[in-house]
Amino acid sequence: MKILAIIASPRGMQGNTGRLLEEVLAGVKESGAETEILSLKTLQVQPCVACDVCHATGICNIKDDYESIKDKMLVCDGFILASPNYIFSVSAQMKALFDRCNGLIHCMALEGKYAAIVETSGGGEDGEVIAYMERFVNTLGANSVGGIGSPMAGIRSFPDETNLYEKARNLGRELCRSVTERPKFHLQDEFIIAFRGRMAALVDLMKEYWVFEREQWEKKLSR
Ligand SMILES: Cc1cc2nc3c(=O)[nH]c(=O)nc-3n(C[C@H](O)[C@H](O)[C@H](O)COP(=O)(O)O)c2cc1C
Repeated sequence: MKILAIIASPRGMQGNTGRLLEEVLAGVKESGAETEILSLKTLQVQPCVACDVCHATGICNIKDDYESIKDKMLVCDGFILASPNYIFSVSAQMKALFDRCNGLIHCMALEGKYAAIVETSGGGEDGEVIAYMERFVNTLGANSVGGIGSPMAGIRSFPDETNLYEKARNLGRELCRSVTERPKFHLQDEFIIAFRGRMAALVDLMKEYWVFEREQWEKKLSR
């Protein structure tokens, strides 16, 4: 089993988010899975320029690291998204990746995969940032098995660390268990089914232009 972790802190794995992610990955490794960390500190993901080329061809026109990240997201068994809380949302690095995933979202290309979320903050609002990242996961067609977030207590430290790290390792184990056992998440599935209808209708509306996405939906609907 291969679990991909994407971390979007400008401090890479050296910051608070990296510290909490380490614990989630410890749980993943205990479950016997292979891990790979992609840090948006070193990988280049520029903002989307709305050229719409990805919708027509399936390939982004911007020449940076996005396509190789996309390929890894498509082949992994499960993935983890980790971001610091920046002004009640994700970091700009993570948001740039989300926007560049627009073509994957139109095709709901990660349907059937499972994900987990990691977030840290200076002082709170962890829940709303986790919920936002989980919503992104669902728009890709994937299910979130849960998220862990915490305010910091200092550099790479948190309040009630023993308890937090135990929960983080459990989240890593839960991600691997879900990849194997494929549980249903009914509330998320309701959203995913409704969003599927919306994306299918959008691509149908634009079918003359968005040839790649039209073909993806033809394949999806004929399965
Ligand atoms: C530009 C910026 C914006 C931030 N915005 C918030 C915020 O809105 N709320 C909050 O609680 N913490 C905020 N923080 C604090 C970080 O979320 C927090 O320190 C986090 O743990 C940093 O993670 P890192 O070390 O992995 O980068 C902000 C920090 C920066 C640099």
